[in-house]
Amino acid sequence: MYRLVKKILWSLDPEKSHRATIRLLSLAQNRAVNCCGLLNRIGGRPPLLPTQVMGLTFPSPLGLAAGFDKNGEAVDALQAMGFGFIELGTVTPCPQPGNPKPRLFRLLEARAVINRMGFNSLGLDQFLTNLKGHKREGVVAVNLGKNTDTPVEEALDDYCQGLEAVYSLADFATLNISSPNTLNLRALQEHDALKSLLDGIGKRRDQLQESHNRRLPIAVKIAPDLDHSAIRDVAEEVVASGMDAIIATNTTVARPQVEGLPHAGETGGLSGKPLKPLALQTVRTLYQTLDGRLPIIGVGGIQSADDAWEFLKAGADLVQIYTGMLYQGPGLIGTITHELKRRVVESDHDFLADLVAEARK
Ligand SMILES: Cc1cc2nc3c(=O)[nH]c(=O)nc-3n(C[C@H](O)[C@H](O)[C@H](O)COP(=O)(O)O)c2cc1C
Repeated sequence: MYRLVKKILWSLDPEKSHRATIRLLSLAQNRAVNCCGLLNRIGGRPPLLPTQVMGLTFPSPLGLAAGFDKNGEAVDALQAMGFGFIELGTVTPCPQPGNPKPRLFRLLEARAVINRMGFNSLGLDQFLTNLKGHKREGVVAVNLGKNTDTPVEEALDDYCQGLEAVYSLADFATLNISSPNTLNLRALQEHDALKSLLDGIGKRRDQLQESHNRRLPIAVKIAPDLDHSAIRDVAEEVVASGMDAIIATNTTVARPQVEGLPHAGETGGLSGKPLKPLALQTVRTLYQTLDGRLPIIGVGGIQSADDAWEFLKAGADLVQIYTGMLYQGPGLIGTITHELKRRVVESDHDFLADLVAEARK
């Protein structure tokens, strides 16, 4: 039955297929139809691998990357499949349609995708309504963006609106300053713009911390297209501003290893297998720069347990997947976590983090 559903979904246009997947997941999590057991089986019955990062306990270090459930419609179903955490969004303050279709392309031979979705979002109000209905189990992050028609100089207002709205519902928030599909967004990674954005966010968080009696961790998501010195610069600024983690990376505007393939010339961000070397190098540079001062969440081209292990060894504390799941289905969650668990069980360590620390030496 599941194989048939997968075949039908794969035969559809990529965006229609994605929409249908979210609908199915949201139906499956509906209390009347409760399919949690089935979803967990589809996810490969992933084992627990408790991991402490940012003062939070993650059931496992494998998360779902932002962009899959932009509007928080399928949180319980995704959690039931066995992710250690789910990053929802990107959500923008006001609803917006995103770029014209088609805007999502499969590069089959490369196990990659190019997207130029452009922050299609139902907006914060609808997002909150969706999120309030979920069970509040596991770790849920919310990835925040700015509206297309908000000038980049006023981006702080949009991020603050997002932060305020999700403050009591999220376990951590992410500032997305690295999508290639929103004009000038990536300019927020440049030194002065980044400093003023993060200082502003830090001040707003201080106020929210007082009124909510809780400090919400904030991560900053960066691009894989920064050079060595820009990565170092961003890392230092994120530390100085008191933010809590860096997510590396978003999709790339480069076209490594895909030249000549159908759709390789489409404008947008490339994700999947060809992104891995760039994302991994970014994680390595961050790890050398940060030297343990901040945790790193590694993402980009992870499609196997070996890939996940490489990111952990390179300096990531947690990892995320997106495109790999499009190609391999949710069974990839179990494949990765079972293999990581096996490595822990066969070692002298009780926790994955200790095994990783030893492997990094
Ligand atoms: C269709 C699609 C939509 C995405 N949308 C977002 C988004 O809204 N916000 C974001 O921060 N990243 C977004 N991403 C990037 C992913 O979160 C991830 O960083 C990137 O795809 C690299 O991981 P992967 O190779 O495992 O897919 C999107 C990726 C894809 C493929």
